[in-house]
Amino acid sequence: MGNNGRRKFITALLSIGGLGTFISAFYPVVKYMTPVKSGKPSVSSLKLGKLSDFAKNAWEIVRFGRKPLIIINDENGKLHALSAECTHLDCIVQYSKEEKMIICACHNGHYDLNGKNISGPPPRPLKQYKVNIQNGEIIITKKEDG
Ligand code: FES
Repeated sequence: MGNNGRRKFITALLSIGGLGTFISAFYPVVKYMTPVKSGKPSVSSLKLGKLSDFAKNAWEIVRFGRKPLIIINDENGKLHALSAECTHLDCIVQYSKEEKMIICACHNGHYDLNGKNISGPPPRPLKQYKVNIQNGEIIITKKEDG
C-alpha cells in the first residue's frame, strides 16, 4: 500500500468512526423525539378490574389504545373517565384530591370532574368516556359522539 493508498485507508477509517460518533450522538435524540407507540392503535373498550379495588378519592392514568385516560373515583364513589391530554398543549393532567379538580401542572389549567375547562389556558373540555360496571368490573368505552 503506497502513501496515497494508506491515506485513503486512514481517511475511510476516520469517516467510519465519525459516522459511528454521529449516530451514537443523535440516535438518542431522534428516539426521544419519536412518539411512544404503546398500546394497540384503536380499541373500543377497556377493562379496568374490580370496582371494589379502586379506592374513593383516588385516580390513575391508563391507556385506551394509544390515548392516555384519567380515571377518577371521586369521594362519593362515582367514577369519571376522561382524556388525560390537556386541551391546551397536551400535557398529562392529574387529579388534585385537595381541590377535587383535574389540574394541568404545565400552565395551571383547571377542569371540573366532568372535564369542563374552568380556569387557566385550556380552550376546550376534556373528552369524556363512558364508564359501565359489569359484574363488579369497570369497563370503559368511547361515547357515541366521539
Ligand atoms: S398544557 Fe395544560 S395548561 Fe398548558
